[in-house]
Amino acid sequence: MGVTPGHDVVVVGGGIIGLAVAWRAAGAGRDVAVVDPDPGRGATWAAAGMLAPVAEAHFGEESLTALNVAAGRAWPDFARDLEAATGRTVHFRRDGTLLVAGDPSDRTATDRVLAFHQAMGLAAVRLGRSACREAEPLLSPRISGGVDLPDDHQVDNRAVATALLDACRTAGVTMIPDRVTRVGSAGGRVTGVVLAEGGSVGAASVVLAAGSRSGEVGGVPDSCRPPVRPVRGVTLRLRAPDGVPCLRRTVRALVHGRSCYLVPRDDGGLVLGATVEERGDGLEVPLGGVADLVEDARRVVPVLDEYSLLEVSPGLRPGTPDNGPIVGPTDLVGLLVATGHYRNGILLAPVTAAEVVALLDSDGCGTPPGLGPFAAFRPDRFAARGAGS
Ligand code: GLY
Repeated sequence: MGVTPGHDVVVVGGGIIGLAVAWRAAGAGRDVAVVDPDPGRGATWAAAGMLAPVAEAHFGEESLTALNVAAGRAWPDFARDLEAATGRTVHFRRDGTLLVAGDPSDRTATDRVLAFHQAMGLAAVRLGRSACREAEPLLSPRISGGVDLPDDHQVDNRAVATALLDACRTAGVTMIPDRVTRVGSAGGRVTGVVLAEGGSVGAASVVLAAGSRSGEVGGVPDSCRPPVRPVRGVTLRLRAPDGVPCLRRTVRALVHGRSCYLVPRDDGGLVLGATVEERGDGLEVPLGGVADLVEDARRVVPVLDEYSLLEVSPGLRPGTPDNGPIVGPTDLVGLLVATGHYRNGILLAPVTAAEVVALLDSDGCGTPPGLGPFAAFRPDRFAARGAGS
């Protein structure tokens, strides 16, 4: 096993983040390789494709919400560029989202969230039950009202992954079907990566974008090892048989305090998600979580009883201690991190790719401290918090 000729950049991981980084870096003139045994799969494939800066805005996560809003604004150009590069459609849909309350106590909770959205200046409008059902006639008459979120959209994440793989190939990105075991370095600077099947790949820069496995790659100094953990999510893929109606837009629901979402596709498909399970890195599918999901979804959209179940897809979200992504340079010169996107990997892919390309352009220096959308999401923030506590 030898050393594969060097590249300007090796991206560790071919999920949506790694592929978007590789495509944009190659477009900026770099010689790029991606190492992944099964690119485009994993959490990227299991996702539902919601672009939901508002629905995913939570109390105490104001910086993340600001980043997510900026990310939502980047999607139209990203989708357009990707479609132009590949001739494929990625089914970017701007029909907004309805957040629905299953019962009166869920309504109290959605009202609290609405007040938070409005305080942050996000687009969110309270709707009564009839207005919800006018907007989405398939909703049950038993719902307790909802909130219109006109800026939360969706894209077909699988179409995006397929298009990114095409775009990478066309842009000359080398795809290496292997796993990286460690990052190589000498004299405080990266030299490339070592592969599981043997051999190594030389590179001036390495981008660690291995999702929930990013913390397992060897050769990364402890000071910059990303503290990601796997948070399992299971989505179901359904289809409306001929003659059975489809949702007009994404519906998110709170039912007896539990959350679910239903994302309709252009072709009559529907993605129902998702469980949130802190049970390590297994891809098992516990029936209880799926049963709850189906029960909650049927309660708000009863016609689902007529849909066919096509697929059950478990994936591992890369969770972080503060739910924010980890993007930026590290103490090891030439090593960049782009991981920890947790529930927002599809949404954040375009801005993450732009940030990484900017960092590569500045040899890792990036935007000055305190500036830029990722300023609050640098890899060193956890060490700084540990030191201060
Ligand atoms: N972004 C949706 C989820 O993580 O389930």
